[in-house]
Amino acid sequence: MKIISSNCSVSVLIGLMALISAESAFAQEGDPKRGEIVFQQCSICHQVGPTATNGIGPNLTGVLSRKMGSVADFSYDTGLQKASMAGISWDKEKIFSWLRDPQSYIKSVVSDESVTTKMTVKVSDEQARRDVIAYIATFSK
Ligand code: HEC
Repeated sequence: MKIISSNCSVSVLIGLMALISAESAFAQEGDPKRGEIVFQQCSICHQVGPTATNGIGPNLTGVLSRKMGSVADFSYDTGLQKASMAGISWDKEKIFSWLRDPQSYIKSVVSDESVTTKMTVKVSDEQARRDVIAYIATFSK
């Protein structure tokens, strides 16, 4: 009981709460309309929709329920190749983390510091990430 009321435990508790809220950062859904505007940044390299083909990046149609690195005719870098072999699939939370920093995210996903990714773009704004994911989610296979 005495421990619980100490300053130390209080700061641990606050730290824990911050961690929980950071992990559930995706909790709110984004706005697909605003996401369509964010996607203009992605469209230099990616297409999404029924007629989408691969460009500099793989097509993103149905990516939300797809295995990582699984577009057959796209040549992926080592990180997504390894994630694909491990059978890891994308979901909203994972794309949310990926878009913040693809390079560091893919290393942690496959627990291998030596892997790399060809996607160097980072989207630091959380709301922009939620919105673009909401937009991509409107296109399934
Ligand atoms: C300058 C080019 C470029 C831009 C801009 C870009 N990407 Fe990428 N993206 C890539 C490349 C290249 C890959 C494949 C990476 C690899 O093989 O390591 C990729 C991979 C991905 C993947 C994984 C696909 C799969 O099949 O596993 C997702 C998801 C993704 N990008 C989303 C986005 C989103 C959303 C945006 C916009 C915010 C974006 N990308 C902007 C080049 C880009």
